[in-house]
Amino acid sequence: MPILTLAFFGDIVGSPGRRAFAHGAQIVREKHGAQVVIVNAENAKHGSGLSHEGYNAIRRAGADALTLGDHVYREREALPLLETPDAPVCRPANLALGAPGKRAVRIPPAAPGLPPVYAIIVLGRLHMPMPADDPFAAIDRELAAIPENDAVAVVEIHAEFTSEKQAVAWHCARNWHGRVAAVVGTHTHTQTSDARILEHSVGAITDVGMCGPRRSILGRRVDDVLRMMTTQAPTVLDVADEEPRACGVIVRFDLNSRRALSIEPLDLAAPS
Ligand SMILES: [Fe+2]
Ligand SMILES: [Fe+2]
Repeated sequence: MPILTLAFFGDIVGSPGRRAFAHGAQIVREKHGAQVVIVNAENAKHGSGLSHEGYNAIRRAGADALTLGDHVYREREALPLLETPDAPVCRPANLALGAPGKRAVRIPPAAPGLPPVYAIIVLGRLHMPMPADDPFAAIDRELAAIPENDAVAVVEIHAEFTSEKQAVAWHCARNWHGRVAAVVGTHTHTQTSDARILEHSVGAITDVGMCGPRRSILGRRVDDVLRMMTTQAPTVLDVADEEPRACGVIVRFDLNSRRALSIEPLDLAAPS
């Protein structure tokens, strides 16, 4: 039975996140047999945006595709990466049509007999700082534009609200089963315990969590966030550095039946 094994990791936060991702990517390839690795890198540069150096390090560590969420334009160095056709970095598909960057990344087949994999990210519209268009319509548009019949897609919903994220997962399970292997949530940096297969075909999790320091508040230093929230004074939120972990999922997709067989959460401790 030909199986495609995909790994997806959540938002890389700063240098602890980059180290954690490198550790996690090695484990999923060597121990879980992952053939494709996708990661959200929106917080890779000191917690906000993606630099060219960070991009190179994350690619060397084993990422086939990098996605960016609401922090997509925080670091100007990401713009050339977003606009270079052969750099596998994509922006949210539901921004303004003129927004710089690719709306999807095509990952070539990892081996003969395997299909190409598409990575697509959309932003939620509820309680998000960046204005965005309809994520459901953007997903439909991008999936309909995929030319290969055998291609497999991973759809990422980068959003705050669990309801919106689960709605996107159900939308894909109802309308795009056979095409979409998994719908994975990101942005909250906190893994949820609801990984499951929807409609016997699409893997789903409301949030995969982050690659970053566990002893933190969403990757930032606890003291800084407490100071900001208890005083409401302007505060620099530094990236924390203790207890780096790589959080994500492994999805196994049966290429004959075109169904996801399993979605397994990952929460891997990395060396400090
Ligand atoms: Fe993030
Ligand atoms: Fe985000």
